[in-house]
Amino acid sequence: MFYFPDTGQKLSSMDILNLIPYILLFFIPYSFCFTPLDNYLINCGSHANASLFNRVFILDSTFFSADDSISLTNQNPPPYSPTLYHTARVFTNSASYRFSMKKNGIHFLRFHFFPFKAQGFYMNSAKFDVLVDGILVLSDLKLTNDVLVKEFILKIQSNLFEILFRPVGNSGFGFVNALEVFTAPPDFVLDYGTRLVGPNGLEMYKNLSTRILETIHRINVGGLKITPFNDTLWRTWIPDEDFLVFKNAAKAAVSTHTPNYQNGRGATPEIAPDNVYMTAQQMNRENSILASRFNITWNFSVAPGGGGGGVPHLVRLHFCDIVSPVLNVLYFDVYINEYIAYKDLDLSSITVHTLASPVYVDFVADSDDSGVIQISVGPSDLSSAMRMNAILNGAEIMKVVNVNDSSIVHRKKKLGVLVISVIGGVVGLFTIITAFLLAMRCRKKKRKLRTVESAGWTPLRVFGGSSLNRMLSEPGSRGYSGLKIPFSDIQSATNNFDRSLIIGSGGFGMVYKGVLKDNVKVAVKRGMPGSRQGLPEFHTEITVLSKIRHRHLVSLVGFCEENSEMILVYEYVERGPLKRHLYGSAALPPLSWKQRLEICIGAARGLHYLHTGFVQGIIHRDIKSTNILIDEDHVAKVADFGLSRSGPCMNETHVSTGVKGSFGYLDPEYYRRQQLTDKSDVYSFGVVLFEVLCGRPAVDPQLTRKQVNLAEWAVEWLNKGMLEHIVDPHLVGQIKESSLKKFGETAEKCLAEYGVDRPTMGDVLWNLEYALQLQESGQLRETHTDSSTNEAVNVTNGIVLGSSSSNRTERYYDNNGCSEVGTSQVFSQLMTNEGR
Ligand SMILES: *[C@@H]1O[C@H](CO)[C@@H](O)[C@H](O)[C@H]1NC(C)=O
Ligand SMILES: *[C@@H]1O[C@H](CO)[C@@H](O)[C@H](O)[C@H]1NC(C)=O
Repeated sequence: MFYFPDTGQKLSSMDILNLIPYILLFFIPYSFCFTPLDNYLINCGSHANASLFNRVFILDSTFFSADDSISLTNQNPPPYSPTLYHTARVFTNSASYRFSMKKNGIHFLRFHFFPFKAQGFYMNSAKFDVLVDGILVLSDLKLTNDVLVKEFILKIQSNLFEILFRPVGNSGFGFVNALEVFTAPPDFVLDYGTRLVGPNGLEMYKNLSTRILETIHRINVGGLKITPFNDTLWRTWIPDEDFLVFKNAAKAAVSTHTPNYQNGRGATPEIAPDNVYMTAQQMNRENSILASRFNITWNFSVAPGGGGGGVPHLVRLHFCDIVSPVLNVLYFDVYINEYIAYKDLDLSSITVHTLASPVYVDFVADSDDSGVIQISVGPSDLSSAMRMNAILNGAEIMKVVNVNDSSIVHRKKKLGVLVISVIGGVVGLFTIITAFLLAMRCRKKKRKLRTVESAGWTPLRVFGGSSLNRMLSEPGSRGYSGLKIPFSDIQSATNNFDRSLIIGSGGFGMVYKGVLKDNVKVAVKRGMPGSRQGLPEFHTEITVLSKIRHRHLVSLVGFCEENSEMILVYEYVERGPLKRHLYGSAALPPLSWKQRLEICIGAARGLHYLHTGFVQGIIHRDIKSTNILIDEDHVAKVADFGLSRSGPCMNETHVSTGVKGSFGYLDPEYYRRQQLTDKSDVYSFGVVLFEVLCGRPAVDPQLTRKQVNLAEWAVEWLNKGMLEHIVDPHLVGQIKESSLKKFGETAEKCLAEYGVDRPTMGDVLWNLEYALQLQESGQLRETHTDSSTNEAVNVTNGIVLGSSSSNRTERYYDNNGCSEVGTSQVFSQLMTNEGR
């Protein structure tokens, strides 16, 4: 039995034998594996090359510059130990290795130490320092009789890289068995998007790439050990079990599918190999009450901080949602050293519409005096009781060696959304044969790529960088040029704008159903040809939409600006507007109460994301039942937030803007004061909730004056305690009393006269989830009980809307009883032509 690297992993003879088939593979060229530009693998003190994990380490003589060194060979090497470790170079005086570098930038540096005894040198008593380019990186090594591999990640900025070994004291000497210096993949360490986690809340950690990082732990959470042989950068990953504080809190999850690497977003196979993303720990809820909340916690020993100041460590966490059945149901919080590091992490919304899509997040945290870094994950407030979960797929902890306080920039402003480093990488696969070979060696499997601009390694940054923060705070052309669709493609998709394919029309122009070349169904929104009126809105819409990916928001597929056309191409949402499913279309089957609740929950999630998912929230401004679309699986998708304005800036509480929105849904406060806040959306959403409950339009001019305005009418009945009297007849007998009560209350709170009194979308979401739970567990309305809900209900006093509908009669009605305010060039206000 032979012990391999510092983590005490055992490398048995079987392992060595297992390598043999792979060694053959190694000789087949695989152009898509990562090939470092600088790649020095050195067998120190030896007269022959040696290989380890398929990599050939060459003689050190040409890199070495000192006479006072000795080459030693182990005469009694342990059985099965790699030949590489049978020799060492020993230094009795300071001496350096020098490497001429082809490329400046981030490099990996590894030292292999395997002490043995030869010619009177007992290597495990060696005393020496190691400096790289003049900076001390190793001293006072704890040597045992095992292999010790020390890894550093550092930026090399000179053409000649020097590693100096300096014996300590009179009798001191240094030694080394093998060295690796190789170029890291591009953007392996980025200077932006790294969060400093600690007592001061949000701070950004700057200039990470100028730090020398020493790898302390590299963990394949929920999985097995990964050896350098199976890692894209020849790293070793070890299982997490020994670090779990409560083993019972976690349950391993394994996926059999290769991760869905994303084009320009998320992690790459070089950031961590597939196997890291294909396993995870999740909450073990077997021994607990279903809805109980707890964290999964790991403790990692690191260098203790002495004298009050901790030692900063880079904590790189890897995530890949291999546990959720659908998108946007997993919401969890991440803590480091008990400080919140990432709140309400929703992996679906930072990846592009697929599950099992790998991402990683970089944090910097200080170790405490006890020398522990603690990582916890636990369900967030946004998770529904049935779906509480939290995951972690991988963790790397690296000590920052050259600490420099100027790197920390304090940011007092609280950002609503935490920042994630989403590193994008694209690796093109061009031939099936090489892809197959790759799969064996690189573990890179099929990847859905829409655009591949470069072969091999260079990552394509469709979204302009690695962090969501950066993505959203730097609007600009960089983000969306990849979404351009040639006019000819749009012509063929819509059969040259065939009138029979029109599915809607609005102030902006017509909307056509179309099918792109790759068989993707789309909705094509074409501005009036020749009219450039809405150009600023057009660009706003592209800028906003190109950044937004969420299960409950309609996503932009592309756009076209050729021939003075303004065309936006959206994903096609099969069942169309919610409104059609509520009333006015006898042909469509009525939705059940559960379906309606789920649709409202989905739409609320989408809106909540718009409001909070960005540094500066986005206000929709035109929430109505025609702008909530339903897909085949009855999943709600909020549409038409193209004219959405960003939320208020730091010092303002509202955005002043021309009133836009739809009659019947319009926030009275916004209407009167022309002040837009996210609470205006909450108001409109309240109207939608009553529409869903009552199955009637927000405004129906054919009804009596008291009934015209749904919001007023419904609140009146609710205050009389007789909400069940105005429930959609299709729902009679379906709704449980407690669920109805919760739902009515929630809708009513949304309709509060003043924005400050209205709940946030997050509260609305929570309450709707709760109404759904009550529906699943509560009692039917018909079986009348008085104590219907077990929750302390704080029903606000009935609010009857102050502004009467007569204030708004200058607006016109469309034939659905819906009126558009400020139409003209407003292309976000798509009116469906369901009445045609
Ligand atoms: C590499 O991975 C494969 C598949 O996961 C596994 O069977 C094999 O044992 C691994 N090899 C090494 C040397 O870790
Ligand atoms: C999870 O851990 C954090 C940090 O230690 C703590 O604040 C939070 O209360 C924990 N959550 C639960 C449900 O225990």
